[in-house]
Amino acid sequence: MSEVYNFPKYYEVAFSFRDIAREVDVFEECFRQFSKIPVRSVLEIACGNSPHMEELVKRGYQYNGLDINEAMIAYSREKAQAFPERVNLVRADLVNFELDTKVDFVFTLLDSIFVKNSGELQSHFDRVADVLRKGGLYFLDWCVHFEIATFEDAVSWEMEQNNIRVKTTVQWQAISRSEQTFRETITFEVDDRGNKNKITGSIIKRAVYPQEFLFFIDRQQHFEFVGWWNNWNLKKPLKDQIKIDRPIAVVRRI
Ligand SMILES: C[S@@+](CC[C@H](N)C(=O)[O-])C[C@H]1O[C@@H](n2cnc3c(N)ncnc32)[C@H](O)[C@@H]1O
Repeated sequence: MSEVYNFPKYYEVAFSFRDIAREVDVFEECFRQFSKIPVRSVLEIACGNSPHMEELVKRGYQYNGLDINEAMIAYSREKAQAFPERVNLVRADLVNFELDTKVDFVFTLLDSIFVKNSGELQSHFDRVADVLRKGGLYFLDWCVHFEIATFEDAVSWEMEQNNIRVKTTVQWQAISRSEQTFRETITFEVDDRGNKNKITGSIIKRAVYPQEFLFFIDRQQHFEFVGWWNNWNLKKPLKDQIKIDRPIAVVRRI
């Protein structure tokens, strides 16, 4: 497990570049266009600090969040104190989990399907099929690897909230080209009101390539492919895009 996820507050600052209300608008547009069932409850896989929880609850949805990291779950529980009856947070591994109830919509954001091999990928989709009602959608943000990856890249950005400044660097390094595994290393360089700290953590992932994803979904008894789009924009199907940024993909439970 990556060390950086033990610091939910710094994670929250680092990834605060998103427009949460706009992203929830996109979820709702997907419900209207593609869901075959009304959506009342949602499940976020690898929810971390649950950045979309409050907005979803405000709009009337029951929120379920699942994460392997106790610090992240504790942080989300703290945030949920204002509306505890609308939220259910579970510590579990996305490869093998169960929920007490079924949900109408599942989502995983920021390339967070942490699987190391094809068996774990299949197990994850089987578990999602168990908890998602027929006709409901599974929404994936950046979970398919569209770039012809060299895995020698790094990206860096800085964010600030409440006088906490975090410079984030993410690096990728190939482990096995044939098994499509790579190491993702995230570093936070934190200035917390004058207290400086550097936190680094790595995690191993298996890449999921686009045509492989289509083939994989096609083989699934419980899912069908709905579509994929660039930059959270349902007017921008990926086939027309040269430069891909924050791609989303949607599949439906059958
Ligand atoms: C990039 S964060 C995403 C957090 C949040 N969903 C968001 O949109 O900002 C990835 C999260 O995945 C969690 N995670 C890593 N491996 C996991 C696993 N095997 N099962 C469940 N959660 C996992 C980490 O603890 C971390 O909170």
